[in-house]
Amino acid sequence: MCGIIGFCGYLDAKDVLLKGLAELEYRGYDSAGIACFTKDGIKTIRAVGKVANLANRLPAELESGCGIGHTRWATHGGVSEQNAHPHSCGKVTLIHNGIIENYHELAKELEETGRLPVSQTDTEIAAMLIDSFYEGDALSAIKKAVSRLEGAYAFCILFSDQKDAIYCIRKGSPLVACQSEEGCVVASDMVALLRYSKEYFVLPEFQVAKLTKHSITVTDLDGEPVAPVMLGIHWDMSAAQKNGFKHYMLKEIHEQPEALRRTIAPRMKKGEFLLPDFTEDGIPDKLFLDAKRIVIAACGTAMHAGLIGKILMERLLRLPVSVEIASEFRYADPILDEHSLVILVSQSGETADTLAALRLAKEKGAKTLSVVNVKGSSIARESDYVLYTHAGPEIAVASTKAYTAQLAAFYLLVLRFAYSMGKLSEQEVSSYMEELAAVGGHMEQVLEQKDTIKELSKRLTPSHDLFFIGRSLDYALAAEGSIKLKEISYIHSEAYAAGELKHGTLSLITGGVPVIALATQEDVFPKMISNVKEVRARGAMVVLITKEDNNAAIEQGICSEHLIIPAGNDMFAPFSAAVYLQLIAYYTSMYRGLDVDQPRNLAKSVTVE
Ligand code: M6R
Repeated sequence: MCGIIGFCGYLDAKDVLLKGLAELEYRGYDSAGIACFTKDGIKTIRAVGKVANLANRLPAELESGCGIGHTRWATHGGVSEQNAHPHSCGKVTLIHNGIIENYHELAKELEETGRLPVSQTDTEIAAMLIDSFYEGDALSAIKKAVSRLEGAYAFCILFSDQKDAIYCIRKGSPLVACQSEEGCVVASDMVALLRYSKEYFVLPEFQVAKLTKHSITVTDLDGEPVAPVMLGIHWDMSAAQKNGFKHYMLKEIHEQPEALRRTIAPRMKKGEFLLPDFTEDGIPDKLFLDAKRIVIAACGTAMHAGLIGKILMERLLRLPVSVEIASEFRYADPILDEHSLVILVSQSGETADTLAALRLAKEKGAKTLSVVNVKGSSIARESDYVLYTHAGPEIAVASTKAYTAQLAAFYLLVLRFAYSMGKLSEQEVSSYMEELAAVGGHMEQVLEQKDTIKELSKRLTPSHDLFFIGRSLDYALAAEGSIKLKEISYIHSEAYAAGELKHGTLSLITGGVPVIALATQEDVFPKMISNVKEVRARGAMVVLITKEDNNAAIEQGICSEHLIIPAGNDMFAPFSAAVYLQLIAYYTSMYRGLDVDQPRNLAKSVTVE
């Protein structure tokens, strides 16, 4: 949450900061602000709302080669200009991503030194604390302040008497940096560095980076130099732009067949038969052979990918698997040992709760494997093993291509390990792999149904409540359909196991209530159709999703809209069915006139609890 950027160099700092903030805006968009060194000292400008509001406020004559910028997702203190970053106290001006948990106690202490906050934020207290220790030595003040701070933080700090220098430190929250001929840039994520460099580094926790126009130096808190580990950037600028699509979400929905190819192809080694290969990822067969229990921990959409992973693993590996919401898991004292494998799933690789779940799993001696999209992110770095999804940058807050790439990662893992555990033959694994390679094409066929979905979504626009129902893999997918719809259309929705409806929820099904029924799984198809009839009998407006090969079994009048996914093995149906659900969410939000890419109150990367 919150996007932060700092620049020191030979370009117009306000331009660099504004571009960077626009690219980081998906991390938070309650308010934005910048602070720059000018010939008259540090100038701070802030505005409530989006970065565009801030841009309108910036005086054209603001000349600077060094400054910091912030786009906020409010935690402590309401959405107001006063609470917008940067915050200043004495010689210190800073921006912050994270939460200072002991700010109340610190505020009381600082009050005694005559420092009174003007905002309601924890961040201002951090600025006051650093200022209270500052006597001209930035490193020493930062070190003393850090010893008092509890919680998570990434700071970019300006000291008014150290012109054109930015100091950075982090704990928990991310910070990456790069250097180019144009100057040095630091940001909360690599997306904001793409235009400047093909190489960057992740600032290690509790180390201090100092950016000047021509260098970045990194030291530990005692001033000992540290050589940061450089990483390559494999995404280009166009990957992070809309490229003619109205919204990032629509672009990312369309990118899925290609994103899947990037997840699958590097692991698809052709030998005598098709078998996923994780040699380059460094994931040994032993990891699964040794496991007696698997736990999948994640949040939101990533957790929903885990629900599909669980069904596949239990079905093909015959190992017990549980899926845990990371924010619950981390405080639940889970039963784990060296025979447990904990799989963490995260697009950003920075989700605070998932990161905490990973750390807990390691503490308890479990093996950890993460399925992550962003290279070099905290979860990727701290896991024993990483499987990168390579889906490319996902900018829309609503996750789409990252989700289907996470599914693909699960299919690859399950197929490899089912084979190495002797549960699948060469022929079986080969034939499943062929099915997996075909899902991109199936998704393209669903994308061609866009116009039908547009019309359908228009009809859904006035709804207050909507239900998704399914069984087995379809139920797991229903959970994802539901979060997608509510997240961006603000229509209340619920996902229900179709068989569970009559145990309470059926009372909510009245005339015209939309029910999206997923019926792609052959083994439960007749049961599912009975459930569809039950809601239809209560007047629901049913949108039924089935496989092409089930057409004949669909009776006239059973649904208001029938959407068809291409024929194929049921196990792979979630990929193409997901595209329908994503498009329904997208167009419903669009027809409601909402901000599809940046839904209210949300942010892409949830780096606070
Ligand atoms: O970066 P992560 O995958 O760890 O993020 C987890 C969730 O915050 C995320 O999937 C969220 O639920 C999406 N906005 C849903 O579309």
